Amino acid sequence: MRNSALHRKIVLRRPDDWHLHLRDGAVLAGVLPASRDFARAIVMPNLVPPVVTARDAAAYRDRILAALPEGQRFTPLMTLYLTEGTDPSDVEAAFRDRLIAAVKLYPAGATTNSASGVRDLDRAMPVLERMAAVGVPLLVHGEVSDPEVDIFDREAVFIERVLAPLRARLPELRVTLEHVTTADGVDYIRGAETNLAGTLTIQHLILNRNHMLAGGIRPHYYCLPIIKREHHRLALRRAAVSGDPRFFLGTDSAPHTVAAKESACGCAGVFSAPVALACLAHVFEEEGALDRLEGFASLHGPAWYGLAPNDERLTLVRRETAIDMPPAVDTGDGPVAVFDPGFPLHWQVITEDSR
Ligand code: DOR
Ligand code: ZN
Repeated sequence: MRNSALHRKIVLRRPDDWHLHLRDGAVLAGVLPASRDFARAIVMPNLVPPVVTARDAAAYRDRILAALPEGQRFTPLMTLYLTEGTDPSDVEAAFRDRLIAAVKLYPAGATTNSASGVRDLDRAMPVLERMAAVGVPLLVHGEVSDPEVDIFDREAVFIERVLAPLRARLPELRVTLEHVTTADGVDYIRGAETNLAGTLTIQHLILNRNHMLAGGIRPHYYCLPIIKREHHRLALRRAAVSGDPRFFLGTDSAPHTVAAKESACGCAGVFSAPVALACLAHVFEEEGALDRLEGFASLHGPAWYGLAPNDERLTLVRRETAIDMPPAVDTGDGPVAVFDPGFPLHWQVITEDSR
């Protein structure tokens, strides 16, 4: 990374997004351009119906590529949605063919479109054993869905009840704990000797639960895992700027229409892709860690997934006046509100076209 004096301009290798929801159909076409700053993204499989087989993943990848705007250089890294019936050989073949980068575990009922997820992990052991043997990473939505467990405790309880026993049983399995939201999650990753990494979202680095719930309920900040207390946010920020290669960016940008969010039972998900890098540069600047931004956004993720970092570079420039961000992106299904961090953004991504 090259930094000019006073950090007015940062040049870094083009980043990747290691956790992204693109949806399908009209929404896919509407939101894909919002990920234009990213060279690659791990694409979540929680469609309806979910992406379960290699054949589903190939078809979804083709729909994404067909929906890409002319000139957008973007490689979707596909994932399969783990079910109790997933065929280990299908996973192995898809991974060896480089059709998929990973398999995603959604505990049934934990989040959006997770109804086909895993109820009993024992039933998924044959496929998990094969993944451990072949080196297929398991991406984990780390929350229990047990209604008895308070929603703010579901990540910590998941680690204790599900993840720690699974990793003890299959130490060879490479696990990415997605969207870590607690100090417990950070500590658990730090304490692991090997085969564990974690992604961090933009919104969890910026918001605590007061932002979502004090002085009015803000449905656009509602996501899963839910935004936590301030001390958790601070632990996430320390992890992000620590330089520890086990932590890297996964925006979890998850578009839902404004109508679906602003409802008596609003959907979980924050659409952060359009402002992700501007927000991230802001966070790293506040932490006095702009020299570590490239590691977090562009280097640690590829290293964990055994890929080369991108050769292309991306430039961020700090503007004196706040930059304009569109409040929403239009899709054929209706507008999707863009994440509002609650402060003005000054870092602007300079692309070839806007130079
Ligand atoms: O907030 C979330 N939205 N969390 C998830 O785990 C899923 C995602 C979505 O698909 O909307
Ligand atoms: Zn997600």
